[in-house]
Formats: sequence, structure tokens, C-alpha cells
Amino acid sequence: MSEPRNVVIVTGIPGVGKTTVINTAVEIVKERHGEDVLVLNFGTEMFEVASKRGLVKDRDEMRKMPTAQQREIQRIAGESIAEKSKSTRVIVDTHTLILTKNGYLIGLPEWVVKAIQPKTIILVEANPENIASRRASDETRARDEQMTDEIRIHQEMCRAAAAAAGTLTGATVRRILNREGKVEEAAAQLAESIME
Ligand code: AP5
Repeated sequence: MSEPRNVVIVTGIPGVGKTTVINTAVEIVKERHGEDVLVLNFGTEMFEVASKRGLVKDRDEMRKMPTAQQREIQRIAGESIAEKSKSTRVIVDTHTLILTKNGYLIGLPEWVVKAIQPKTIILVEANPENIASRRASDETRARDEQMTDEIRIHQEMCRAAAAAAGTLTGATVRRILNREGKVEEAAAQLAESIME
């Protein structure tokens, strides 16, 4: 028996423009279909837990915590996100991989992604040079500096992690290119996946 799924997980490395694409897609869905989409941000959920425990002062400090601590906070946030995901149309804004001091932390481990049961996992991607310059010009955040080659490898690793999460849940995996100055184009593709 097939069960309807309502969650689209949107991922992309920091600076790729993930949040900008999500916000634009939500507006498109509202304009074209008159429907609301609930956006749940995994980082915000984790930050609430981590800051209450006095572990971090801002969200960019979280990926610098010991990985065991990140996994623990991630598990708590994952349970809360899975519970809140029962609404009609939901986007979960998160990462397939988090670059820590001890390698990549899997953003969607089995216990998180199986609880969420997404219909689709989106990889928002961009040209590594564009990502580096978007990070450099964002003064609101403490962005990591990465060489463009490292950014390229990070995006390739994210594809592998998304495929693994798709294998565990049967979710489709879709790449969306966020081209420079073309947010609307990327957002229209995301809106299509939300409404599928
Ligand atoms: P999170 O809040 O997701 O941080 P982030 O990766 O920095 O994502 P942003 O929301 O800032 O989006 P963005 O960088 O893709 O782009 P933006 O739209 O701002 O996560 C915070 C932390 O939570 C993580 O570091 C991690 O520690 C933790 N976390 C989250 N999920 C986790 C999980 N599952 N497990 C464990 N830990 C987890 O855009 C950037 C800039 O680009 C902007 O200036 C924008 O105007 C510009 N821009 C965007 N698109 C375009 C375009 N097409 N052309 C030109 N400029 C553009």
C-alpha cells in the first residue's frame, strides 16, 4: 500500500543560497497554488537545544562542538522535526553533511531520515566560485573559508550522502542548480517538487 508523503528535505552547503531558494519557492507555491508551506529549519531546532544548554552562542559555533555532542543535539532536533513534519506541505531546511574539525558529520543519519520519511531530497548546488564569493560577502555570519576545490569535493560528497539517505527511505534525490542571479529559476524547480 502506498503512503502519501508530504516532506521535501532541502540541503546545500553553506553559502549555496539554500534559504534564499526556499523562501522564493514558498512564495511561488502561495502565488500559483494558494497553498502554505511549513518550513522547518534543522539548524534553528538544534540551536534552541544547544543554546539552552549553554553550549553555543551562535549557530556557526555548533559545527565546532565535539562531534558526540553534535550527534546528541542532532538526535533531539531530528525527533522534534519529525513530529512537526506531520503538517500538509513541509520543507526541512538542513544539510546532508556538516564539515566539522573531525571530518564530515552525516546530517541525515538513518534514525533522523527514517523518522522524517521525505518524498524527495533536494541538493541545491552552485558553481564553487559563486559559493566562495557569496560566503565572503555575507557579513551576518561566521562562514568557513574553503578553497574552491574543497567546495567542489564537499558538493560531490553531499551527492553521495543524499543518495544514501534516498536508499534508506525510498525518497527521490533531485539536484537543483542555483545559478548566479537566477534564484527564481532554482525556486521554480523546488516549487515543482513540493507540489508533485
Ligand atoms: P543552517 O542554518 O542551515 O546554515 P547555513 O548552511 O549557513 O544555511 P543558510 O540558511 O545560511 O543558507 P545558505 O548558506 O545556503 O544561503 P543563503 O540563502 O543565506 O545551519 C546552521 C548549522 O546547523 C550548521 O552549520 C550545522 O552546525 C547545524 N545543522 C543543520 N542541520 C544539521 C543536521 N542535519 N545535522 C547536524 N547539524 C546540522 O544565501 C547566501 C548568500 O547568497 C546570500 O547573501 C544570498 O543573497 C546569496 N544568494 C543566494 N542565491 C543567489 C543567487 N542565485 N545569485 C546570487 N546570490 C545569491
